[in-house]
Amino acid sequence: GLDQSIRPSDLDHYIGQEELKRNLKIFIRAAKARQEPLDHVLLYGPPGLGKTTLSMIIATEMGTGMRPTSGPALERPGDLAAVLSSLEPGDVLFIDEIHRLPRHVEEILYPAMEDFCMDIMIGKDETAHSVRLNLPPFTLVGATTRAGYLSPPLRDRFGVIHRLQFYTPEELSMIINRTASVLKTEIDDDACIEIARRSRGTPRIANRLLKRIRDFAQVENNGVIDQQTARDGLTRLHVDEAGLDHVDRQLILGMINQFNGGPVGLDTLAASIGEERHTIEDVQEPYLLQIGFIQRTPRGRIVTDQAYRHFHRKREDA
Ligand code: ADE
Repeated sequence: GLDQSIRPSDLDHYIGQEELKRNLKIFIRAAKARQEPLDHVLLYGPPGLGKTTLSMIIATEMGTGMRPTSGPALERPGDLAAVLSSLEPGDVLFIDEIHRLPRHVEEILYPAMEDFCMDIMIGKDETAHSVRLNLPPFTLVGATTRAGYLSPPLRDRFGVIHRLQFYTPEELSMIINRTASVLKTEIDDDACIEIARRSRGTPRIANRLLKRIRDFAQVENNGVIDQQTARDGLTRLHVDEAGLDHVDRQLILGMINQFNGGPVGLDTLAASIGEERHTIEDVQEPYLLQIGFIQRTPRGRIVTDQAYRHFHRKREDA
């Protein structure tokens, strides 16, 4: 479908994550020359930075298939056993949200990752015994928002562990340009930069904003996206000058209004704005930390002077 072509299909068309690309190219070349699968890869970082796309690209570059699944989908050991035994030699097994694998399912992965085999129980009660099955060699690509959620024995079995970085406005601008051309939408450079600056360092957000602004442009501006169309669209989508959305604003204004800028504990904060602690930790907080709007201290989160200025607010005196 359309999303297939919005996603780059090989490393040379993938924009950003330069260090990872440089290293992966070498690891892939070396593995191919040895006629071995690539070592298992763990990708972590905030959502929308390209973990699934990179997994597809790894399979393409290795010349193999990709089998996608996720931690929550693998509820019982049999679910994982079924996936593992259906792999073709060299396949990439992609497990999204791998930190959500149940522990008894995770244990099946250890021998599968280490020795490409799996021990399964046959029979019941006194006739029960385990049988060792060989699996085709494969590459596990695991994705998670935070590597800290993974159990040490699982994390230790990955040969490549990489944290994805937020994209620069320049990189996002190139991605928006590329997506616009895939969508056959005319957009000028100023509009690309405007959307890029306000996409929270995240290609998924950039592409989503582009699609909605394209709707405004199509209905109201002959389909052409210029800077004014982009600005108006972003305002109507409630994205502010710094790229913050409604939840980001609620979070920071909640800290300012109810806690005089902090320090405030994450659980207290989550309860006060009615969001999940984990959502704040994985989605909002990494970007707000990156742009210097909040800081972590041993006593909790605090709002920075920079964020106070952005919201035209002043600290109350203690
Ligand atoms: N589309 C989404 N992410 C991309 C990336 N990193 N490079 C090119 N196109 C993309």
